[in-house]
Amino acid sequence: MLSGIQPTGSLHIGNYLGALRNWVREQDRYENYFCIVDLHALTVPQDPEVLRAKTLEVAALYLASGLDPARCEIFLQSHVAAHTQLGWIMECLTPMGWLERMTQFKARSQAQGRERVGTGLFTYPALMAADILLYDADLVPVGDDQRQHIEYSRDVAQRMNSMYGEGTVHVPAPLIRDAGARVMGLDDPTVKMSKSIGAARPAHAIFMLDPPDVIRRKVSRAQTDAEPAVRPPVGAGVANLLDMYAALNDLSRDSAVEHFSSKPYSVLKSETADVLIGALEPIQTRYAELRADEAGLRRVLGESASRARVVAAATLERVQHAVGLL
Ligand code: TRP
Repeated sequence: MLSGIQPTGSLHIGNYLGALRNWVREQDRYENYFCIVDLHALTVPQDPEVLRAKTLEVAALYLASGLDPARCEIFLQSHVAAHTQLGWIMECLTPMGWLERMTQFKARSQAQGRERVGTGLFTYPALMAADILLYDADLVPVGDDQRQHIEYSRDVAQRMNSMYGEGTVHVPAPLIRDAGARVMGLDDPTVKMSKSIGAARPAHAIFMLDPPDVIRRKVSRAQTDAEPAVRPPVGAGVANLLDMYAALNDLSRDSAVEHFSSKPYSVLKSETADVLIGALEPIQTRYAELRADEAGLRRVLGESASRARVVAAATLERVQHAVGLL
């Protein structure tokens, strides 16, 4: 299993419930590669100091959430040069039309204008395919927004195998495991909670490192609707709070609805804030300890990268040979 998160912005409760927590719970079931995709972060301009700080922050949050470096690899994409090397070969195999169809590229290039976006944003999926293929990944847990990139990764892997021989790369399974709870924006429950929107709009996201009073304030201001109390059918904002409450307590949405039935939104909000604070407090404590030992954190990343390099080198060599490199 392989997945990646870009070290841009701050991780939020959607990243935790949708990704990290599932990874932690299943870390004994798979051979896991959790990559911090710092090269992908460079596809849009980054402040170098901020990028470095956010990279360490994400790494520490992975560990603080319970990912165990004895049971999974936690490493930086830029520390394993094979990602860039295989990425180039994948680019060469990728028709421009395939990348032009990517909705994420279309949305971002339209927003910024073609003259302003870097070429890396265009070839981004080829590097992502390399991330996945280097480790012969079967399972790539990602959110729905990454579905098209995974489909592309399968397509380009199949193209490589049909051009250079079956088994050159391992085609990842079509099944994209659903990320689980999909946490929506607190200020706008019609959009998925996002790091970048969260950075611009303080009421949008609960960050994993938010202190308890901030969490309480953000939840109390979360968008609900004109109803006075929890009663089905609930609106999107109320559903989002119920889903967070349910996910954090390992309950179904129905049980959460039952628990809050006919209670005012103030109760839903204060109990949801309680469980959020309760879940994040131990992570924040552990995070502070990890950050106090930066050398230790860097050591974990370094050791993991060394092991990842060995696996990645074998795949890269296989591909290099297949395509005719000496
Ligand atoms: N594109 C992914 C995102 O923005 C991040 C990513 C890069 C990734 N490489 C990956 C995810 C490989 C899964 C597997 O969310």
